[in-house]
Amino acid sequence: MVVVSGSNSQSLAEDLANELGWEHHSLEARRFPDSEGYIRIPEDAIEAVRKEPVVLVSNTFPDAGIVETLLLLEALKDVREGRLENLKGIGPQKLDSVGSGVIVAIPYFGYSRQDKRFRPGEAISARAIGKLLADHCDGIVVFDLHAPEALKDMSIPVAFTSAMPEIAEHLQKEISPDFILSPDKGAIKRASEVAKAINKPFSYLEKVRIDAHTIIHKAKDLDVKGKVVAIVDDMIATGGTICKAADALRSQGAIEVHAACTHGLFTGGAIDRLSNHVDGVHATSSLANSRAVISGGAALARGVRQLLQNQ
Ligand code: R5P
Repeated sequence: MVVVSGSNSQSLAEDLANELGWEHHSLEARRFPDSEGYIRIPEDAIEAVRKEPVVLVSNTFPDAGIVETLLLLEALKDVREGRLENLKGIGPQKLDSVGSGVIVAIPYFGYSRQDKRFRPGEAISARAIGKLLADHCDGIVVFDLHAPEALKDMSIPVAFTSAMPEIAEHLQKEISPDFILSPDKGAIKRASEVAKAINKPFSYLEKVRIDAHTIIHKAKDLDVKGKVVAIVDDMIATGGTICKAADALRSQGAIEVHAACTHGLFTGGAIDRLSNHVDGVHATSSLANSRAVISGGAALARGVRQLLQNQ
């Protein structure tokens, strides 16, 4: 098989290709002056994507990523079906179809947090994006999706993969934490997986009412005094959740607080804000940023293998 990528995930696509021992091809993706996207499968990649099934690595974030992913999938489908006719008359205009065989691996699935209809009339955005993708490919691999239930009953196979094993290994090597902590009940499953992998105690922050006017956040059943704590979440956006958790832990005596996540969105000055509250921020390469210190290649490779095994 071959791995291909457009503009937003090239380095992670290369890591995935290395993990799997497959070729990687970069596809052309650029912007017109009015900001609309343009994509093209270069001549030298046409043969490669027809010879073998393809894994496209592409983020559906920000919005332009959704359009780029859909255009790339459409172009891959045309090429694999032999539809090459073009106004410039370049190369063969028609070839035999080589059939289905396009998988999209999505490092960061944009719109994943609108995973339910909270009020009448809302779109379930995560599901809507999933359905759009499912109409254009033969399988989807998703990396630490906020709420996997949003993609249940898709018309094509979906494999869910997670970076928790790599986050665990990284934290152990870099900071050797005393505790792993989930900042809320929502991240318990992921954070406890990290704790189990490196054999550390685990807890989550719960709200404790002190009096009628005061609520504090406290690690359930754990004394953090004098300890190094790593908070693990699926994503950090504004950093508000982590800053609040870190402040609570410090006020209860933690000596070092680190934050780790799969998806570092880091919106609106989050990195600066976080640097005033935590001792380190550790993210995977699902999104390119200065804190992407853990490659997502191995996790994506597990997802691709899982999808292929179940086909
Ligand atoms: C929420 O359910 C997520 O798991 C994250 O905790 C949240 O999206 C983080 O957002 P922020 O960094 O803006 O607090």
